[in-house]
Amino acid sequence: MTRKLFVTTALPYANANFHIGHIMEYTQADIWVRFQRMMGSEVHFVCADDAHGAPIMISAEKAGKTPQEFVAGIAAGRKQYLDGFHISFDNWSSTDSAENHALSKEIYKSLRANELISVKTIEQFFDPQKSMFLPDRFIKGECPKCGAKDQYGDSCEVCGAVYSPTELHNPFSVLTGATPVLKSSEHYFFRLSDPRCVEFLEQWTQTPGRLQGEVLNKIKEWFTKDEDGNGGLGDWDISRDAPYFGIEIPDAPGKYFYVWLDAPIGYLASLKNYFEKSGRDFDAFMADENTEQVHFIGKDITYFHTLFWPAMLQFSGRKTPNHVFVHGFLTINGGEKMSKSRGTGLDPLKYLSLGMNAEWLRYYLAAKLNSKVEDVDFNPDDFVARVNSDLVGKYINIASRAAGFLSKRFGGQLSADVGVEGNTLLDALRAHKGQILELYETREFGKALREIMLLADRVNEYVDQNKPWELAKLEGKGQVLQDVCTVCIEAFRLLSIYLKPVLPALVAQVENFLQVAPMRFDDADRVLGDHRIGVYEHLMQRVDPKLLEALFEPPAAPKVVPGGEDIAPEIKIDDFTKVDLRVARIVKAELVEGSDKLLRLTLDAGEGRLRNVFSGIRSAYKPEQLEGKLTVMVANLAPRKMKFGVSEGMVLAASDADEKTHPGVFVLEPFPGAVPGMRIR
Ligand code: MSP
Ligand code: ZN
Repeated sequence: MTRKLFVTTALPYANANFHIGHIMEYTQADIWVRFQRMMGSEVHFVCADDAHGAPIMISAEKAGKTPQEFVAGIAAGRKQYLDGFHISFDNWSSTDSAENHALSKEIYKSLRANELISVKTIEQFFDPQKSMFLPDRFIKGECPKCGAKDQYGDSCEVCGAVYSPTELHNPFSVLTGATPVLKSSEHYFFRLSDPRCVEFLEQWTQTPGRLQGEVLNKIKEWFTKDEDGNGGLGDWDISRDAPYFGIEIPDAPGKYFYVWLDAPIGYLASLKNYFEKSGRDFDAFMADENTEQVHFIGKDITYFHTLFWPAMLQFSGRKTPNHVFVHGFLTINGGEKMSKSRGTGLDPLKYLSLGMNAEWLRYYLAAKLNSKVEDVDFNPDDFVARVNSDLVGKYINIASRAAGFLSKRFGGQLSADVGVEGNTLLDALRAHKGQILELYETREFGKALREIMLLADRVNEYVDQNKPWELAKLEGKGQVLQDVCTVCIEAFRLLSIYLKPVLPALVAQVENFLQVAPMRFDDADRVLGDHRIGVYEHLMQRVDPKLLEALFEPPAAPKVVPGGEDIAPEIKIDDFTKVDLRVARIVKAELVEGSDKLLRLTLDAGEGRLRNVFSGIRSAYKPEQLEGKLTVMVANLAPRKMKFGVSEGMVLAASDADEKTHPGVFVLEPFPGAVPGMRIR
């Protein structure tokens, strides 16, 4: 029986372009989807932009655009990545679509009719400087569960805990750095603590085969209350106050769905959008009990997908997911994981623009992926080794060793019967099909590729033993040569079928070379027999290791007029806020005996004490020009012991790298009105 599959990947936030972590998720899902299609299943593979939420609203504001314009700009950039890495989504939509607005309201109303929505007045963090309630992601602090520093207000990237921002220790606003204040407002809740939900989720999550073991363990922690009765399933706050970019809550003016309420509904909305465009019946498909719903996601969003999402579906009378497949994070060179906020180490577009083959990366990622929630590391040397010695050296090599003889000597004609030895090898290759299918099905891609490469080793041994290059020189060995080369080509075809989910574009070239229709897995059970193949053209290059150097080379910094000093590498706002800059009054300025460069400054930064700072500005200022003036000081610089005493800070001054064209040093002075102790932000 062929399966009916509805497959998604997580909907990426529409506030940035894809990074290599997204490409890994799509590659994992795409390989699985292509595998299912090659099994003859009906597969619908969709995704969408996750358009809503305060962060996107704020990014749009900064860019001087409406949220809709901003999101459209990001959406327009998606195609080059998806096409570039051969990701075969059937549809790409947006959570701001008409379908999603309608479905979200419908689902909410069903939950409300089921008495699973409650309204409570809560106190929430408000940024007094920006005059708005702060979204979870714009509050940072220490994780209330594990104490990790610098964690977002909704969940901890270190221990995976999910909590509300008011639980954070030492919170601060990411927008302004201000300490947020509590302000009360009415919020809507999904009553996840309702016994019906708890009972359903216990049963849903425990259903054998639905979730990975590691995911189940994590969920058990989330279900468990500690000795003080804390923890366990809490009600979920699903509303946000205006201003917010999202979907308005029915019968609740000024209230919007929290982005995580309508985001997963976007899975359904994208499928619906696709079905409507292609004249299919969405409701019938979703009502069909044979339809399997499968989500591929990263480990950071497990909570949303294994608790909130199935409960929302269940209690609005809908099908719940059959599987949520969770993967780990991609790291670069053993480095820190690339999270949403930090930069990327491997720019997918740069990879493509360097002319690097997308299927090198697909092959490499597949070789490292398994069914566990383990992080995957991209290591450049490992990448070069696997592509060059396995993919090209073992697999591609088989075709190039045999094809030339066939076309030159036999016009591409294969032997109809290859004899016992050849058939034994080919049968051995076919005998592994079941195992390889099972490995694809269970997302053990690394193991599948290892199996396939072992088979390739056997074929290469066969070539080494039969030496077609020697047969070609001998009189009267034409038939043997044709048989040996036919075995190679048939073996290459079988390996190509096995590799096709991973290497779709390469195998399309192979199909062209072999002169066969697009291959599915059951084509492995047939033989080409009396068949003429096309002319072999080189299928894939080896990776030049220089390409990886180029890939990881930091982008050239933009040049600045006048002095020719490059702009320093990009930093995040967090890096900047580490530097505590304060307005300080120069109470006293004196020459330093024995130094023709330094002045000794006595600074008042409003701390109730004075600081001693040495500054290399003697050539530019006389002490009396400075005394009484305000300036800017780095207030948290480690004190430095100098020949003339300890310097307890640094005064800011401008200068050009090119002293000849632009001589001079210029101490910074704030506009009138500033007073000592004010922070510069
Ligand atoms: N918008 C939400 C998902 C909503 S789903 C209804 C979101 N977006 S995201 O852009 O931050 O992440 C999208 C997917 O990429 C998630 O599955 C996330 O786990 C995954 N990844 C983000 N960084 C990743 C890596 N470094 N490695 C692998 N996957 C990564 O979360
Ligand atoms: Zn934590």
